[in-house]
Amino acid sequence: MLSGKKIIIGVSGGIAAYKSAALVSALKQAGADVQVLMTENAEKFVGRITFEALSGHRVITDTFDSEEYIIPHIAVAKTADIFMVAPATADIIAKLANGIADDMLTSCFIASDCPKVIVPAMNVKMYENPATRENIEKLKRHGITVLDPDEGHLAEGISAKGKMPEPSVLYRYIEYLVSYGKDLVGKKVVITAGPTRESLDPVRFITNRSTGKMGYALAKVAAARGAETVLISGHVNELSDGVNNAVLTGTGASDGVITPVGVRRIDVESAEDMLKAVKAEYKNADCVIMAAAVADFRPLAAAKDKIKKDELPEEEDEKGRKQYILSLERTEDILLWLGKHKKKAQKLVGFSMETRDLIENSEKKLTKKNADMIIANDLNTKGAGFGTDTNVITIIKEDSITELPIMTKEEAAAEILDEVFG
Ligand code: CTP
Repeated sequence: MLSGKKIIIGVSGGIAAYKSAALVSALKQAGADVQVLMTENAEKFVGRITFEALSGHRVITDTFDSEEYIIPHIAVAKTADIFMVAPATADIIAKLANGIADDMLTSCFIASDCPKVIVPAMNVKMYENPATRENIEKLKRHGITVLDPDEGHLAEGISAKGKMPEPSVLYRYIEYLVSYGKDLVGKKVVITAGPTRESLDPVRFITNRSTGKMGYALAKVAAARGAETVLISGHVNELSDGVNNAVLTGTGASDGVITPVGVRRIDVESAEDMLKAVKAEYKNADCVIMAAAVADFRPLAAAKDKIKKDELPEEEDEKGRKQYILSLERTEDILLWLGKHKKKAQKLVGFSMETRDLIENSEKKLTKKNADMIIANDLNTKGAGFGTDTNVITIIKEDSITELPIMTKEEAAAEILDEVFG
């Protein structure tokens, strides 16, 4: 998604400058063209050679350094897709808020009209100082995004607000801003994802193999394309969103379940909870995409206390084997409910996972549930289904069947949204 994008990373003189090296490395590995601009003070924290080696470009600090460009600040500024200043000290924030352009970073910032993001990182007192607060408000009024610093361990040994967000967070923010055009601004998209859990007792539940990857990919793309995006999520475990955490954290650790940038996530447990959340959100939605694997059955009654083995009713079959019986009831079909209450301009998208008669079964769902589209995939196809990062989908509508080749779930998400809003 970042391949070929031109990204400027401005680095000012704060201890968090070392984290920006990981960010530059990850952006470069994703195929972006990264230009680093450093202030003189930044070079006291991290040497320019680090950033030059990682970005493959000379780092520019002085406005009058014209070895690479004829009028350098204009040349760099003109071509950028995004300009992020990370870390941004109180000093650089003050300069940028007041139009001071006394080095390459500040000159370029003023000269560029691409989306701009400031990532403050400083001592908590400096961050809370009224002058800094005013400068941040001023930048926001100028249409510049200013991220909130994290709370955590600061260089002076205390835990407080002022820490620069992790490079993985900044990477995702850049991805969100530059990966797609904003063609869905003004639309509201509600997406469900993951499995539901149907409680048997306080310890046990019935669930399924859904990982939520497809629904989360849909939410990521919808939000990045500018839609107001609500993600109603069942319980999902650590979820990779394709971002190389190993590069960004240096540990290979995943950072858990990641809510895509710009997405409002509502966590639910059971099919009943999911239905409630969908009912609360669907009315003004332009599109509802049911990517969740909603349980079709739930225990007739969840026990208040843990069920003991010998409390379950048992029967013996003809071979004398003991069978233990769980009584189940159907859950409400959310897509069916939506189909009955659909407003004229609303689009409803369902998913269908099959192991046989894919098209026939999916067409039945389309009609029965009054959906506009069913995204069908065959669990027996390599690269399709639960847990994979790829999918092989067929888009079924009343008047068309479109088979798509294997692609990443994010690419599949973009195809689905194109089909809905195209
Ligand atoms: N769905 C739903 N509510 C349910 C069950 C499913 O909204 N209680 C939605 C799913 O999110 C998905 C679509 O319906 O979008 C799947 O249709 P369904 O007929 O339920 O598929 P299966 O569960 O695979 O059906 P079957 O068990 O009959 O194969």
